[in-house]
Amino acid sequence: MQQFGFRSARGEQAWIERANDILPGGVNSPVRAWNGVGGTPLPIVSASGATLTDASGKEYLDLVGSWGAGIVGHAHPEVVAAVRGAASRGLSFGATTESEVELAELIRDRYAPAQKVRLVSTGTEATMTALRLARAATGRDLIVKFAGLYHGHSDGLLVAAGSGLATAGVPDSAGVTAAVAADTLVLPYGDADALTDAFAEHGSRIAAVITEAVPANMGVVAPPEGFHRLASQLCRNEGAVFIVDEVLSGFRAGPAGGWGLERDAEIAAGREPWEPDLVTFGKVIGGGLPVAAVAGRADLMDMLAPVGTVYQAGTLSGNPVAVAAGLATMRLLDDGAYATLQRTADALRTGVSAELRGAGIAHAVGQAGTLFSFFLGLEEPPTTFDEVAEQDALAYSDLFHFLRGQGVALPPSAYEAWFVSLAFDDDHVRRIVAAVGAWGGREATGP
Ligand SMILES: Cc1ncc(COP(=O)(O)O)c(C=O)c1O
Repeated sequence: MQQFGFRSARGEQAWIERANDILPGGVNSPVRAWNGVGGTPLPIVSASGATLTDASGKEYLDLVGSWGAGIVGHAHPEVVAAVRGAASRGLSFGATTESEVELAELIRDRYAPAQKVRLVSTGTEATMTALRLARAATGRDLIVKFAGLYHGHSDGLLVAAGSGLATAGVPDSAGVTAAVAADTLVLPYGDADALTDAFAEHGSRIAAVITEAVPANMGVVAPPEGFHRLASQLCRNEGAVFIVDEVLSGFRAGPAGGWGLERDAEIAAGREPWEPDLVTFGKVIGGGLPVAAVAGRADLMDMLAPVGTVYQAGTLSGNPVAVAAGLATMRLLDDGAYATLQRTADALRTGVSAELRGAGIAHAVGQAGTLFSFFLGLEEPPTTFDEVAEQDALAYSDLFHFLRGQGVALPPSAYEAWFVSLAFDDDHVRRIVAAVGAWGGREATGP
């Protein structure tokens, strides 16, 4: 097997050509190509704790964390040992194992609305199945989603807003048919009037509303007070299914994901908390290996084959090695771990914000629980995608490349959360904050 290890610009160029020759865009998932910030990424050769090492041997403090999955830090010894142990007992059986049941029970114990759980391999499968269940349960076609929220790449969810509010969506990717897009209404996030109007106009045709528990795929946008409560009520009143996508936020924003943050706030305010009918998980529950889940009300989940008539299947669903990584990760996430993670996130968020402010750089901070991101050039935290799109993405690109030079790996897009892990210590936080201070808003000299 060839080991990458570049020692020269020629070696790097050869790598780029080789990757582009065989992989479209040189990647297996688009955001990895750095189109949002420019430049060309080198392959990563290893990662440990808070640190990534690329093929030139350079090390980076990693704020991508495998897009959220790496919550306990890279190659955590307990996770690696669990994976080794599972692998030595067999890689895949195509039959139910005890560890799948254990992981599903653990999810339910920590997230009460997950009464029943079906494990799948990707978040895309989880949300796709949730939509199918909602349509089967209601006998209706229409799905309501919100602009700027991402739920994976199934056809019906790659849809953009049509020309007017509450009109049929239009394909947001080549290859998605107009007919599929017409079954998705796309509304501005957080707009209570638009949502109420959509139900007034189309209520009897709406199968489901799908939202991210914490929108974090347009930067982090804290859900406006009462918005999810309203969505839940409208769904209940009109007989639609409320799907809360926790693929990114689940067991990451807090111990019970984004929903748990709202549940606690509702209880503190003396209100009965709302609950999702269906919920989707991914990322953290696989601890870096491919595990995701659709879960929710038992009556809805029992519509899945083989109990019910909604078909869903997967050769590698609940794969024992992947589940071992997820279980080991989830077991490390006790109350103390979430307190540590929150402290780290708070220190980094406030430290970076203070440096930006000190340098006179306008910015807004989006935050919910341990999730956060920065919107350079904005004065107020945005709620809608249109507001998010006003941010200064070029300034972010400058920050990205400057920090790269300082040994800090930010997400390669202004539209992503900054992910911390349990492997970050105070010194890591100080180094990142100092690097942002050293940037001070200067333009990149080139990627
Ligand atoms: C909220 C949300 N839902 C669904 C997905 C899709 O998950 P996957 O990439 O595992 O298909 C993502 C991926 O980033 C996500 O953030």
